[in-house]
Amino acid sequence: MADPGTAAWPPAPIRTGRLVLRESEARDRPAFIELYASPEVGAYVGGPQPPAELDRLPEVPGRRPGLFVVELGGAMIGTVMLERRNLGPPGWIRPAAGVVDLGYLFLPSAWGSGYAAEACAAALDWFAGAFPGEPVVLCTQTANDRSMRLAAKLGFVEVERFEKWDAEQWFGMWSPASAPG
Ligand SMILES: CC(C)(COP(=O)(O)OP(=O)(O)OC[C@H]1O[C@@H](n2cnc3c(N)ncnc32)[C@H](O)[C@@H]1OP(=O)(O)O)[C@@H](O)C(=O)NCCC(=O)NCCS
Repeated sequence: MADPGTAAWPPAPIRTGRLVLRESEARDRPAFIELYASPEVGAYVGGPQPPAELDRLPEVPGRRPGLFVVELGGAMIGTVMLERRNLGPPGWIRPAAGVVDLGYLFLPSAWGSGYAAEACAAALDWFAGAFPGEPVVLCTQTANDRSMRLAAKLGFVEVERFEKWDAEQWFGMWSPASAPG
């Protein structure tokens, strides 16, 4: 199976009840910097990026297959990623063609309103249409309560827990059949 990018990227902007999911644009750069510099956002994903690294962000950050900018009222509030990445439990046998991983990063000011759930559900719905029958995996720290609740809400089912990066990791899998109706 192709990467989310090669066959169907970028899709036309996806509209949900409150949000738009679209490819990154130059005007999103300040929001990317805010997102990557935030200690709250980075708490369970490797920490905030240092200023020198943020200075090196390209003119259009995040323009790559599988990365959706999530927009609310014309402004970026976060990103949702569907990318083939090499994450997972040490002993887990990955399908030969690889597997697509869901990631999400939202500005703290946008937490607690259901935006991440709305955006991720729309991205998964797009994925299921573009790549019928393909599962999606997700890896998150069990201490990341908000992320754990979101994964469950989206219909991810636990496969395994494992220790990595000095923390317990939760590895879950989603398929259209496990998604809430
Ligand atoms: C993980 C993350 C995306 C979750 O964001 P979130 O806003 O909590 O998630 P949701 O979109 O599911 O919103 C759920 C909350 O919105 C509330 N809510 C308010 N209005 C709502 C509505 N209309 N619909 C749904 N939920 C609504 C829910 O009650 C819930 O509140 P609670 O957390 O107090 O119980 C966010 O915390 C984040 O970006 N964290 C940093 C990055 C990170 O750790 N990513 C994980 C990498 S694996």
